[in-house]
Amino acid sequence: MLHSVARLAAITALPLTLASPTIHKRLANGLAPTPPMGWNSYNHYNCAPNQSIIQSNADALVNLGLADLGYTYVTTDCGWTIPDRGADGKLTWNETLFPSGFPAVGQYIHDLGLGFGTYSDGGVLMCAGGINQTGSLGFEYTDAEIFASWGADLLKYDNC
Ligand SMILES: *[C@@H]1O[C@H](CO)[C@@H](O)[C@H](O)[C@H]1NC(C)=O
Ligand SMILES: *[C@@H]1O[C@H](CO)[C@@H](O)[C@H](O)[C@H]1NC(C)=O
Ligand SMILES: *[C@@H]1O[C@H](CO)[C@@H](O)[C@H](O)[C@H]1NC(C)=O
Repeated sequence: MLHSVARLAAITALPLTLASPTIHKRLANGLAPTPPMGWNSYNHYNCAPNQSIIQSNADALVNLGLADLGYTYVTTDCGWTIPDRGADGKLTWNETLFPSGFPAVGQYIHDLGLGFGTYSDGGVLMCAGGINQTGSLGFEYTDAEIFASWGADLLKYDNC
């Protein structure tokens, strides 16, 4: 007991030896002042999303009234891409799973008044349930540009 009180005193005393903390807004750019809310394909579909899954769940956010409550981002998680970058060094979608293409899926989501969420990873490979799909390490700028060119509003950035 005495021991833990002494430890507590030592811990509570610690901040006094540091400069008094000041809270700074890290990025005063207006983005995500509160946590983004919405739906993400991973929790139900793991790394096996496809176009009809994404579009029907986007519809459901609206039809169930969840969008009105602030659940406005629809994010396609792992499994959307293919193993390698194209010859141009860019990521692309799996055409079997997303026959209309990712930008068109983004447009579908936007037409519902919702935000289009994409997925990548800070490593060599994405976390993709045993499928090897290339991650963004060393390609951060290229990938940010391509997601933006597809109209993405949000990126879930994993760290496998
Ligand atoms: C999309 O996924 C659903 C659910 O797993 C499946 O029933 C459907 O056949 C899939 N569609 C395509 C085009 O892969
Ligand atoms: C696209 O997804 C299908 C279904 O998961 C898979 O069989 C196929 O290998 C994928 N295509 C590529 C190029 O990765
Ligand atoms: C995935 O990549 C790792 C590392 O390069 C390799 O050891 C493994 O065999 C690959 N797996 C598949 C299914 O291609």
